[in-house]
Amino acid sequence: MKKYQNMTKAELIKSLERLEKRPAPAHLAAAHQRVLHELQVHQIELETQNRELREAEQLIEASRDRYADLYDFAPVGCVTLDHAGVIQEINLTGATLLGLERATLIGRPLSHYVVRSDVRAFREHLRRCLGGGGRPTTCELRLAVKTGGFIDAQLQSVPIPGPPRSIRLCRTAISDITGLKRAEDQIKALNEALERRVRERTAELEGANQQLQREIADRHQAEVALQRSSEQLQKLSHRLLTVQENERRILARELHDEIGQTLTFFKLAVDMCLRLPLEQVREKLSEASGKVGKLVDQVRNLSLELRPTLLDDLGLLPALRWLIGRFTANTRIEVDFRHSGLEGCRFATGTETAVYRIVQEGLTNVARHARIQRASVKVWRDSRQLHLQIGDGGCGFEATALTAGTSSGLCGLRERARLAGGQLNIESAPGKGTVITARLSAQASGGRPG
Ligand SMILES: Nc1ncnc2c1ncn2[C@@H]1O[C@H](COP(=O)(O)OP(=O)(O)OP(=O)(O)O)[C@@H](O)[C@H]1O
Ligand SMILES: [Mg+2]
Repeated sequence: MKKYQNMTKAELIKSLERLEKRPAPAHLAAAHQRVLHELQVHQIELETQNRELREAEQLIEASRDRYADLYDFAPVGCVTLDHAGVIQEINLTGATLLGLERATLIGRPLSHYVVRSDVRAFREHLRRCLGGGGRPTTCELRLAVKTGGFIDAQLQSVPIPGPPRSIRLCRTAISDITGLKRAEDQIKALNEALERRVRERTAELEGANQQLQREIADRHQAEVALQRSSEQLQKLSHRLLTVQENERRILARELHDEIGQTLTFFKLAVDMCLRLPLEQVREKLSEASGKVGKLVDQVRNLSLELRPTLLDDLGLLPALRWLIGRFTANTRIEVDFRHSGLEGCRFATGTETAVYRIVQEGLTNVARHARIQRASVKVWRDSRQLHLQIGDGGCGFEATALTAGTSSGLCGLRERARLAGGQLNIESAPGKGTVITARLSAQASGGRPG
């Protein structure tokens, strides 16, 4: 019988088949033969079953070892908890996470290793897991580790189904998400820095854009102003030509009508004297002398109208005095003339001419348009500027409607003031009188005190 014990399963099955086919020896009794044969068959069957059982046992052991390896070395910590959170089982990865021996951990509540401020969240997690309908429950919390610090962990738990009223257990996977958390924090910080940078850059760009818009608007305004002043300049040059033509016409008429005629008369008188007896010559010459005297006055007046030599020879104040006196004499309009700081001063030629022409045009306008018999002129200076004001309480006009196209006298004055480095302002309204003010540079003319 012993010979069957070391046989393989396949060898045993072959022996069994051989025995069944082999005829019983003739010298044994048929009954004994049969019993022995059956016993042999049973033994072989038993040996076969035994071998199968051993093989099955080996397979189970190998599979259990594999499962234990899988469990212990799973990439996450695996722990079985009861309803109070006490550790029933824990794999090696879980024990390594907490930095303790597996034997130390079993039988202890997991909450001992949860950071104090997160214990409430852990209990709530356990309650939800065991009270839920078998679905996985997740929470994130910090676990204190043996080294003294803590790790960020994610717990994912499912209840373990069991018979009713048995102690309820749950299986929890613990993942170390410290690196993930740190990366998340870094990404968050980077995002915040990026957003801050974007905000700053956007603000900078907005500022630059606004500055650009302002510059574009300024440039546009400057272009419009340039266009306007070039139009004004065109109108003024046109006006200048017209005025020049008028002046020439007046001069031509004066020369022809007054000076020419008087000179003709004078020539005739001289010619006649040559033919007259001596006693009549005296009478003719005295008449001619009277005419020449008037001619001298006319020539002087004409020259003063064009540009008083006083202005060049004696300066602004004497020229203004003469202009105002002559204006009153010609128009019977009283002018209240006040001045300060001008006595003995000379200013740049352009400034003196501008002040003179502004007063001249202002007073001419009073005589022509204001319908009043009084006017005032004030001229004074401070350390940097020469100030001028011409006022009347006359009928006034709509000063805001004044443009270079419709007026040339006053607009020409504005241009004069501007060319002399100053500015001129006109205030007037119907029934409210008129005030012209101007400010010009009080810079002294070369060498003389200004
Ligand atoms: N002092 C004033 N009182 C009332 N109206 C005035 C006065 N000064 C000017 N005006 C009004 O303003 C207009 C423009 O004056 P401005 O001196 O520019 O032109 P003007 O006197 O009409 O002609 P010119 O070009 O020969 O001077 C005048 O036509 C007049 O209607
Ligand atoms: Mg005028």
